[in-house]
Amino acid sequence: MKKSFYITTPIYYVNDKPHIGHAYTTILADVFARYHRKKGQKTFFLTGLDEHGQKVQQAAQENSVSPKQHCDGMVTRFTDLWEKLHISNDDFIRTTEDRHKKVVQKILSKVFKSGDIYEAEYEGLYSVSEERFITEKEAGTGNFRDIKKLKEKNYFFKMSNYQNTLIKYIQDNPNFIQPLHRKNEILGFLRQPLNDLCISRPKTRLDWGIELPFDNNYVTYVWFDALINYITAPGYGENKEKFKEFWPASYHLIGKDILTTHAVYWPTMLMSAGIELPETIFAHGWWLMGDSKMSKSIGNVVNPIDLIDDYGVDPVRYFLMREMVLGQDSNFTMELFINRYNSDLANDFGNLLSRVSTLMKKNYNGEIPSPGELNESELNIKRDSIVLNKSVDKMMRKMQLNESIELIMKFVRNVNKYMENNAPWKLVKKDLKAAATVLYTAAEALRISAVLLSPIMPNRTEILLETFNAKGTNEKWGGLLPGSKIKDHEPLFPRLK
Ligand code: MSP
Repeated sequence: MKKSFYITTPIYYVNDKPHIGHAYTTILADVFARYHRKKGQKTFFLTGLDEHGQKVQQAAQENSVSPKQHCDGMVTRFTDLWEKLHISNDDFIRTTEDRHKKVVQKILSKVFKSGDIYEAEYEGLYSVSEERFITEKEAGTGNFRDIKKLKEKNYFFKMSNYQNTLIKYIQDNPNFIQPLHRKNEILGFLRQPLNDLCISRPKTRLDWGIELPFDNNYVTYVWFDALINYITAPGYGENKEKFKEFWPASYHLIGKDILTTHAVYWPTMLMSAGIELPETIFAHGWWLMGDSKMSKSIGNVVNPIDLIDDYGVDPVRYFLMREMVLGQDSNFTMELFINRYNSDLANDFGNLLSRVSTLMKKNYNGEIPSPGELNESELNIKRDSIVLNKSVDKMMRKMQLNESIELIMKFVRNVNKYMENNAPWKLVKKDLKAAATVLYTAAEALRISAVLLSPIMPNRTEILLETFNAKGTNEKWGGLLPGSKIKDHEPLFPRLK
């Protein structure tokens, strides 16, 4: 196991209003960062904003402010949301920061010196909305608006030099692009000759960008600039120790629409600059609104702030992590959200806590009772918890998050069954010691489930642990201390109507 863990989200376009898709990737990265931190691994979790390019320049012009002022005004829309979502990022990068400009220029100079950048006049179809030259074939797909013919002198990055090396690298490193179908998609794409990448924009057309260090009439193409954020933040060229500790990144989490930029542009840029490639690029699917794409024009974009205000941050985090099979598209509807909340959180998890804590408070002086000897059914639960810990760890290291949540909830359901079978609410009247064993076992299993769910629901699991005076305990059996006072608590997940 590598000693450190470095995970990134895409840097989001500063102009966009954050929606559930942005929230999803950021929570996903947060869950893994929290998990690895908890396991004692040195962790670095990066998110941030992509602030250059035509659209930002245009939006600033429309508002009669400078592009930088425009960006500064937009940042809090993201940072406020991350705060509300309890995102534990270690750094927040903006591509307009000096530390980033320096690194972009350093990389450009390096790639230029190595002979991988050349100047050429190019005539072709240019998509204004995508801010890049597109092929005839792409133009024919109908996916691009505002196409115009453009003839321009520009700088190009010889991506084609690295095509074969990249193919071989992808084949030799099965974990590099995940999931498997995305890797195959990229290998399919690489069967065609790879075009060189236009990496400059003349200032006459766009000046909101990072100046090329070898020609001040041009700024850098926004993707060439943006990808470099992943090495700026851990200190490339500035902080040798930190960079060595965290690079190569363990995971770049991305959505499926930005796979080519991450799995083709980025590795070839790194190869040319002589920098190691990230360990894994993981592309997740999209959140759809009842089978259709979320879009501003249809007006079906889910605003995560409203959801948090209505239901609380942990249920939102839980739903997004539980519902999406990593790598596939997923549906968002309020009905699904409420059903999931009621069945998993209110019925199975919250209910178990209130049953156990109420019975303990009433019958054992408000304290956790001492268990008697464990019988076969208690030993089964203990054994299940040990197996569960191992399975969750294995799955988390393979990015199988929703499967691991499923396993934890299955365990919780089994504990509920155990409670039903042993009916401690009846047993307390006949045999206080036997009932104590049942309640202790159920509470201990619940505590372990809460520890395992804590990266996903950091707040409500904390309330559960506080109830049992078990803050800071780990997932090993035996963390509950008999004799500890039970704290009062509000219902953890009140049922939704
Ligand atoms: N700025 C670039 C990324 C540069 S990274 C060096 C960008 N930004 S974005 O704001 O448009 O998109 C960021 C991420 O949001 C992408 O990973 C994209 O897949 C994701 N999503 C946008 N809509 C989404 C859904 N409906 N569902 C899930 N994720 C979605 O691209």
